Amino acid sequence: MLSEDKNRLLCETGPGTPMGELLRRYWQPIAGEAELDERPIKPVRIMGEDLVLYRDRSGRLGLVDRHCPHRRADMSYGFVEDCGLRCNYHGWLFDETGRCLHQPFEEIAHPHARFKDKVRIKAYPVQARAGIVWAYMGPEPAPLLPDWDRFHDQGYKQVVLSHIPCNWFQCQENSIDPVHFEWLHTNWSKVLRGEQGPYGPTHTRLGFDEFDYGFVYRRVREDTTEEDELWTTGRVCLWPNCLYTGHFEWRVPIDDENTLSVGWFIDPLPGDEPFEQERIPCWTAPVEDPRTGRWIDSHIMNQDFVAWMGQGRIADRTKEHLGESDRGILMMRKRMFEEMEAVKAGRDPKGTIRDPALNHRVHLPVIRQRPPRPEDGPPPFPFLAGQPQAIVDEMRELWEARSRTVKEDALP
Ligand code: FES
Ligand SMILES: [Fe+2]
Repeated sequence: MLSEDKNRLLCETGPGTPMGELLRRYWQPIAGEAELDERPIKPVRIMGEDLVLYRDRSGRLGLVDRHCPHRRADMSYGFVEDCGLRCNYHGWLFDETGRCLHQPFEEIAHPHARFKDKVRIKAYPVQARAGIVWAYMGPEPAPLLPDWDRFHDQGYKQVVLSHIPCNWFQCQENSIDPVHFEWLHTNWSKVLRGEQGPYGPTHTRLGFDEFDYGFVYRRVREDTTEEDELWTTGRVCLWPNCLYTGHFEWRVPIDDENTLSVGWFIDPLPGDEPFEQERIPCWTAPVEDPRTGRWIDSHIMNQDFVAWMGQGRIADRTKEHLGESDRGILMMRKRMFEEMEAVKAGRDPKGTIRDPALNHRVHLPVIRQRPPRPEDGPPPFPFLAGQPQAIVDEMRELWEARSRTVKEDALP
């Protein structure tokens, strides 16, 4: 149970709030790179700030205020140029650092006044990596964007966005909640399939450890032992707002009542020939079933979403009753409070990387997967509802082509 004040501390992420200040010390994933191929301009709302992400005609990314500093027109209706984004209302042009480069009429009326030098638009640094666009919204100098080792692994990668209508922190608490797996996924799925018991194996032992980049939760089930990787390796609750299981799932606050779920999924392909994925696709997964008006429950991540959204727009933690299974959640909350204090005291919070020598294929523990075999067939992508058919087809073609090569190599 938490007091109302402490709950607010964890949940509020607007500018100037302690948690907002903490989260602004990290690069946050805000969009799929591929989204900008179709439309170079995307309005985004991150931690209560309305912004516009764009890629100009030279390929430079920018993230600027949604409203033009002239008379507040919506910059997401502007147009990209060789350098920067131009407002559609009176044509003022801004670059990715926020400088005003051109004020068409002012420069004719008062050619020597250089009014444009006195005007700036709010702008944040952005960069692309692993098919994701990342933003840094904190004070300079920005730390390094982590180069996780998994980004370098070979496989078919995809970025999946979902708009979750609830506060980010209840989504992140799920990253360190091991017992939910057996109920929300294993047992509920059974019930949804119309099967009567018996329920799946129960967890018999839980362990929680902290490491440089977050927490690891470990578990033993009735059908596993302490020799199994569920216990020896565990799963990573990646600091400050991600779950890492070999895939990444970030929970980025849109505002205090909405969260952008950013999934980064990788499916290994058969064979060990090098594979360069030209373009990592990005798609948006639905949360609600339009036919029933109910939340989708058919896929693993959708089941997680149902649990989070069911806790309310902002979970009321003054009414909860935590037990032994919530030990990890208590550890995480405690660390969050401590890190908010660290930021207030001017220190770098947990897990920020500043030394380029350390930011090379940074290792995160992961339970090993058996390499795929051609006969396994392409993965059905089981996590989220709504995968576009074009992606299913692309994966299938790739799988078949690579399976043929593996089989030919195996010929005597
Ligand atoms: S409002 Fe943007 S140029 Fe006038
Ligand atoms: Fe889950």
